[in-house]
Amino acid sequence: MSTSPAQNTPLRLGLAGLGTVGIGVVKIVQDHADVIAARTGRAVQITAVSARDRTRNRDADLSAYAWESDPTALARRDDVDVFVEVMGGHEGAAYDATLAAIAAGKDVVTANKALLAHHGQALALAAESAGRVIRFEAAVAGGIPVIKALTEGLAGNQIRRVMGVMNGTCNYILTRMQSAGLPYETVFEEARQLGYLEADPNLDVGGIDAGHKLSLLAAIAFGTQVAFDAVELEGIGAISIDDIRLAEDMGYKIKLLGVAQMSGRGLEQRMTPCLVPSTSPLGQLVGGTNMVVLEGDRVGQIVMRGAGAGAGPTASAVMGDVIDIARGLRLPTFGQAAATLRTPIPATSATAAAHYLRMTLLDKPGALAKIATALGEAGVSIDQMRQYSHEGSEATVLIVTHKATRADINAAVARFAPTGVMVGAPVVLRIEEV
Ligand SMILES: NC(=O)c1ccc[n+]([C@@H]2O[C@H](COP(=O)([O-])OP(=O)(O)OC[C@H]3O[C@@H](n4cnc5c(N)ncnc54)[C@H](OP(=O)(O)O)[C@@H]3O)[C@@H](O)[C@H]2O)c1
Repeated sequence: MSTSPAQNTPLRLGLAGLGTVGIGVVKIVQDHADVIAARTGRAVQITAVSARDRTRNRDADLSAYAWESDPTALARRDDVDVFVEVMGGHEGAAYDATLAAIAAGKDVVTANKALLAHHGQALALAAESAGRVIRFEAAVAGGIPVIKALTEGLAGNQIRRVMGVMNGTCNYILTRMQSAGLPYETVFEEARQLGYLEADPNLDVGGIDAGHKLSLLAAIAFGTQVAFDAVELEGIGAISIDDIRLAEDMGYKIKLLGVAQMSGRGLEQRMTPCLVPSTSPLGQLVGGTNMVVLEGDRVGQIVMRGAGAGAGPTASAVMGDVIDIARGLRLPTFGQAAATLRTPIPATSATAAAHYLRMTLLDKPGALAKIATALGEAGVSIDQMRQYSHEGSEATVLIVTHKATRADINAAVARFAPTGVMVGAPVVLRIEEV
C-alpha cells in the first residue's frame, strides 16, 4: 500500500459506541481540533454517532452530530469516511457494521481486540481487497503505541520474541496480593467493587482478553494469520499468596505474562502466570499499568510501559490511527498483505525454561527422594529445592528445575501421584527469562 499526501478536505468520522472509549474520542476531537488540523493539514470531524440508548447523559456535547441507532446504517452513511468502532463484542453489531463499512468503501479504526482475534484474517482480506485499511492500535495495550512500533519502527527486524503484561486488572490483583499480603479472593472482590473487572471476569482473570491481544501482536511480529485459538491460556485464579511469597523469597514476581515466539517447532503463544526476576522491568511493574517487551534481531530489546486502559489512553490510540488515515498513511492490517500471512503451526511451550513447582508432601521417610526420582525419570533436573516447616503431617516443598520443556515437566508431574507422598496437585509455573 502507499502513502498519499493528505487532502485538504475534512476527514469525517462515524463513531459507533459512546461509552468509555467513544466519549474519550469525542473529547479529543473537540479539545484538540486545532493541533490535529495542524498535524494532518485537514480538519478531522465527527459527523454521526451511534449507541444503544439515545437518552443517556454522556457528559459530552453531541448536538452537532447526526444520530443513528443502527451502527450498520452509520457505517454506510455518505458523510462518513472512517468508521470508528468502539462498541465491543466479536459477533453481532461490531462485526456486521465493520463489514458493512468496508463494503461501503470506508476505512475502519477499532479498539476491539475480541473482534480481530476472532475475525482478523477475514476482515483484513475484505478490507485489502476493497482497498480500505483497518487500524487497531487501541485494541492492544491501550495507550501504548505497540502496533505502530511493530508494523513501522521495527519493520526492518526479524522479531525474536514479543512479551507483555497486557491486562491491567490481573496485574493489579497480583501486585495488590503481594503488597497487602491478601488472598486472591479478597483482592478479586476489591477489584470487582472498584469496577476493574469486565462483566464476565473470566475475560480478565482467565487470560482471554490478554490472549486476544497477544494473538494480534504475534500475527504482526511473525507474519502469520491471527491464531487466537492456539494461544495457551491459563488464568491467575490458582495463584495463591503462598506462591507470591515463595517466588519473592527467590527473587521473582508472578505476572500474567504473554509470550509469543517462533521456534523451529512452530509458533508459541502463551498467556500464563509466570515468574519473572523482581529486578527486571516486567518484575517491577505494579498496579494496572501495562508493559510490552519487543525483541528484534537488530534492535535488541525494547520496553514500552504505559496505561493499558481508560478513556484518555485508549482514545489517544484510536486518534493516532485516525490521524494516520488523515495524513494518507495506508498500511496493511497486520503489517503485510493479508493474503501473504502464513497459517501458523501451533507449538505449545516448545522452548525450554526453568520451572517453579510448589507442592505439599506427606511427612514420610523418602518422600523428597521419590519426587526427585520422578523428576529425574522424566529427564527434568533440579536446580534448587527447599522444604518449608511442617504443618501437622504435611510440608511445603519448593523445587526450581533446570531448563525443561513443559511436556517434560508434565510427564514428571504425572509420575508424582503414584508416589503416594503428594497431597493434591503441584502448582507449576514457568520462569521466563526476560
Ligand atoms: N475501556 C477501556 O479502557 C478499553 C481499553 C481498550 C480497548 N477497549 C475496547 O473498546 C471497545 C469499547 O469499550 P468501552 O469500555 O468504551 O465500552 P462501553 O463503555 O461499554 O461502551 C460501549 C458503547 O457501545 C455502545 N453499543 C454497544 N452495543 C451497541 C449496539 N449494538 N449498537 C449501538 N451501540 C452499541 C454502547 O451503547 P450505550 O451507551 O447506549 O449502552 C456504548 O456506548 C471494546 O471493544 C473494548 O474492548 C476498551
